[in-house]
Amino acid sequence: MIPVSQPHIGQKEKEYVADAVESGWVSSSGAYIGRFETALQSYLGAPHVLSTSNGTTALHLALLAIGVGPDDEVIIPASSFIATVNAVLYVGATPVFVDIEEHAWGIAPDRIEEKITKKTKAIIAVHLYGYGCHIAHVKEVADAHDLWLIEDNAESIGATWQGTRLGTVGDIGIYSFYGNKIITTGEGGAVSTANGDLFERMSILKNHGRKTNGEYIHEMCGYNYRMTNMQAALGCAQLEQIDDFLAARRHIEELYDGMLGTFFTRQIEYPDTAHVMWLYSGLVPVNVGVDAVRVYLKERGVDTRPLFYPMNKMPYMDPSLRSEEYPMATQLYTRGVTLPTFVGLTDRQIETVCEHLQAVCK
Ligand SMILES: Cc1ncc(COP(=O)(O)O)c(C=O)c1O
Repeated sequence: MIPVSQPHIGQKEKEYVADAVESGWVSSSGAYIGRFETALQSYLGAPHVLSTSNGTTALHLALLAIGVGPDDEVIIPASSFIATVNAVLYVGATPVFVDIEEHAWGIAPDRIEEKITKKTKAIIAVHLYGYGCHIAHVKEVADAHDLWLIEDNAESIGATWQGTRLGTVGDIGIYSFYGNKIITTGEGGAVSTANGDLFERMSILKNHGRKTNGEYIHEMCGYNYRMTNMQAALGCAQLEQIDDFLAARRHIEELYDGMLGTFFTRQIEYPDTAHVMWLYSGLVPVNVGVDAVRVYLKERGVDTRPLFYPMNKMPYMDPSLRSEEYPMATQLYTRGVTLPTFVGLTDRQIETVCEHLQAVCK
């Protein structure tokens, strides 16, 4: 079976992780943690970076740091991985959904203002599948209404807007290093910010509300959202190769694009943004059922995954949210499919995937 995704773990990763294990620093102290954070800081061009246990805890920290709580509303796109909305629910705030744009799949900036109320505290802009949302426009709206802007950049590390890395445009950016991401630490994540106060708050919250390691005076009720030294070692090795990984993924995208032509409707890029290839995704023609496509490919040894289900429709959401309709988010789920995309996928495998996809979509 050709998988949808698999991490690229080479010799360097093995060496660094073995070194971390042999050093005895296997928990959340050790040289690799600072080294990973510094390397990430320089890659992103972000004044402050903090590693976290995963991308979901990074989102939670971001919302806690800006002080979002039970009486607040947070605007989010209807399409994203579930972590985006769950973090809003963790802090007791109300998620307010906005549909995505038809062609670019980011939150529709011109639909945000109609959702802003006195209770709105923040917007979470998600950069989906490697593509930046219309961050310039979203930022304009956030600034005009004095709202915090968090970028959920779990899926799109390396993508840019006007040459600036996404994740560093808003007040806080978050990243995920789950095994299927562009770089992985197994489980892991990070936050970036230019705001020293937010950084300090997130550092304390991530470490049980403790300002100084080794002291048992806790400033606030915090969390254990720390990354381990072993994970950071993996991250250091991966980050050193990120340009090669992105080039390999770009090659995969070019091959798919060349072979699939226009019947597979891809996401488009906004002017001034440069995407990265996370997972090659698109919509199948309207007259072809996406479930049938996925079964057909699976029977021929090709694994796929559906695109995200609209978050407001989840069974545990408040009925008032579940009854709302977001046609573009729905279309993503009803017509969307992700094809295998990972460093190490061969040209021949890509040809096989395309042959089967063409055959079933004819
Ligand atoms: C858009 C988005 N946000 C947040 C997350 C959460 O990251 P993690 O799985 O590391 O908790 C993910 C991960 O898949 C994601 O895709």
